[in-house]
Amino acid sequence: LASVEVDLAPIQTGQAIKVMWRGKPVFIRNRTQEEIDTARAVQPADMIDPQADQDRVTAGKDNWLVLVGVCTHLGCIPLGTSSGETKGEYGGWFCPCHGSHYDTSGRIRKGPAPANLHVPEYTFLTDTRVKIG
Ligand code: FES
Repeated sequence: LASVEVDLAPIQTGQAIKVMWRGKPVFIRNRTQEEIDTARAVQPADMIDPQADQDRVTAGKDNWLVLVGVCTHLGCIPLGTSSGETKGEYGGWFCPCHGSHYDTSGRIRKGPAPANLHVPEYTFLTDTRVKIG
């Protein structure tokens, strides 16, 4: 499928889901205010791939984080989406293949991955529905 539509209504604050898009996993997280605040408190100099959280989300819908769930090191699928999975040292995702830690904006913060988790092209169709792709 070139694009996929996802109903966000069932995703509670603090939860995330994984959907498939063009053969790849996409993570969608409904972030808590604390997760947003943590992501925005980081200084660019402390990042491996400096990028503002505001540039990775849709303005006004800052709780929704949409990411391609493929580690930018060698392509493993990071943990941190399903409840009970480790989110790593920065509260986002952790790639167990070689130990990359991503933060609550999906940015690489520690480990061998060279770049942040990619944000796919997506649009909000309504407040509770997004189209990815
Ligand atoms: Fe994720 Fe190597 S593939 S750390």
